[in-house]
Amino acid sequence: MSDVLLVEKLDGHIAKLTINRPDKLNALNGEVRCALLGALNDLASDDDVRVVILTGAGDKSFVAGADISEFKDARPVDQYRSMAGSNVFSAVEQFPKPVIAMINGFCLGGGCELAMGCDMRVAATTARIGQPEINLGLIPGGGGSQRLPRLVGEGWAMRLIMTGEMISGEKAAEIGLVEAAHPLEELEGAVMELAANIGMRSPMALQAAKETILAARRMPLDEGLKFERGWFSLLFSTDDMDEGVSAFLEKRKAEFKGS
Ligand code: COA
Repeated sequence: MSDVLLVEKLDGHIAKLTINRPDKLNALNGEVRCALLGALNDLASDDDVRVVILTGAGDKSFVAGADISEFKDARPVDQYRSMAGSNVFSAVEQFPKPVIAMINGFCLGGGCELAMGCDMRVAATTARIGQPEINLGLIPGGGGSQRLPRLVGEGWAMRLIMTGEMISGEKAAEIGLVEAAHPLEELEGAVMELAANIGMRSPMALQAAKETILAARRMPLDEGLKFERGWFSLLFSTDDMDEGVSAFLEKRKAEFKGS
């Protein structure tokens, strides 16, 4: 395991991934991207893991963006290759289990894009979130121009991307860029509670929820409704669905085994 990414398995079917370059504010370099792709690949087939928390080491930064030192003298073709070949943003989005971004500080550029690739985002009220690429004469290259307007609408996306301004976690919650913001000292507890809530659910139902909700971005409504019906019906073949329904009828708590 690479030490730029810490992988922990916690109780409650939770895995925690911590990007570990605190001296560089957890900036995403090639090594981190590679480690993230490897860890996601391993966790995808780990039946004990039902939900993943993604965060940054230390209390200052989630991820302060792509590692700018790798931009100097980079050829366009290398940049294109590295974005297409190790697209961690899409890998997180396509990961078959829910991923929660725990935004503990600076969440900038590629950091914001990584958080947007996650399924849910919870921030410290004091986090600093933005897309500052415009300060470098760039635009977001990890999906920001596409995912940001889907989350916060065109106006806020234009403003954040065109000014590079950083907003607080509290403001981000107000505009829908994150779902919740908590004081930093309460952030981990709040995220663990959310992850534990999700981790006790049926993994097949969680995957179905993720796939159907993401499908709504690319499918017209009638296609999406058909896609949902397919998944809904398929879940009737799982032991977990049988357990969920039986538990309700027997007035007890369901124990989902993941089968
Ligand atoms: N890429 C590479 N290194 C980065 C980085 C990045 N995106 N963000 C921070 N760092 C490094 C700094 O170079 C510095 O390294 P050093 O100590 O070896 O000089 C270290 O992390 C600490 O950053 P520093 O700038 O000293 O901290 P700060 O608290 O004064 O400022 C920020 C914090 C986030 C405002 C500032 O680091 C910044 O603007 N970072 C770039 C953000 C960005 O543009 N991201 C999008 C990239 S496309």
